[in-house]
Amino acid sequence: MSASANLRPGANSFIIRLGQAHDVPGLTHLINAAFRVEQPFIGGDRTDPDGVRAYMEKGKFLLAEDCVGLAGCVYVELRGDRGYLGLLGVDPPRQGTGLGRKLMDAAENYFREAGCCAVDLRIISGRTPLLAFYRHHGYLETGTAPFAPDVPVKVPCHYICMSKRLV
Ligand SMILES: CC(C)(COP(=O)(O)OP(=O)(O)OC[C@H]1O[C@@H](n2cnc3c(N)ncnc32)[C@H](O)[C@@H]1OP(=O)(O)O)[C@@H](O)C(=O)NCCC(=O)NCCS
Repeated sequence: MSASANLRPGANSFIIRLGQAHDVPGLTHLINAAFRVEQPFIGGDRTDPDGVRAYMEKGKFLLAEDCVGLAGCVYVELRGDRGYLGLLGVDPPRQGTGLGRKLMDAAENYFREAGCCAVDLRIISGRTPLLAFYRHHGYLETGTAPFAPDVPVKVPCHYICMSKRLV
């Protein structure tokens, strides 16, 4: 993992590291804060400590951390020769400072180093601005998928699937 450090919070003064078991409480808080933007579509918190631990059993979290604390995260899971990227989230006050880009780059490097040929992700259908965000990062729509049946939705939702080939 790359590292740079000084004492100013923001995208130029953070480290990216792998999440560990002791990060579960902070990571749960960070994900729920970042994903509060989904509350028009989904009821309740995005996850809880058990949910984060379940992700950690299947994959890993890359965490961005600055002098203030956890600033962002992304979930990375190897699925054969493809990578699955999820739960990209930046602490709301630090959004728009370049951390999302750096976490995407770190996730793609993680998959590249693991020998993956492509990255897959999915977004909730109502969150159309994210299409432009991920297209900007080189992802293309590949189809749709039914929404997770156990997630309480406020409006009908499905997933939009997107992928990017790694070179
Ligand atoms: C989505 C999210 C992770 C982006 O992180 P961020 O730190 O705010 O984004 P950045 O400042 O790093 O911007 C990254 C790049 O995307 C671009 N971008 C941002 N929003 C965009 C949009 N709506 N359309 C197109 N490009 C966009 C920026 O211009 C920047 O481009 P550049 O690197 O070429 O200069 C953050 O807003 C977030 O946590 N949102 C809530 C959780 C969420 O929705 N996660 C995604 C779920 S699938």
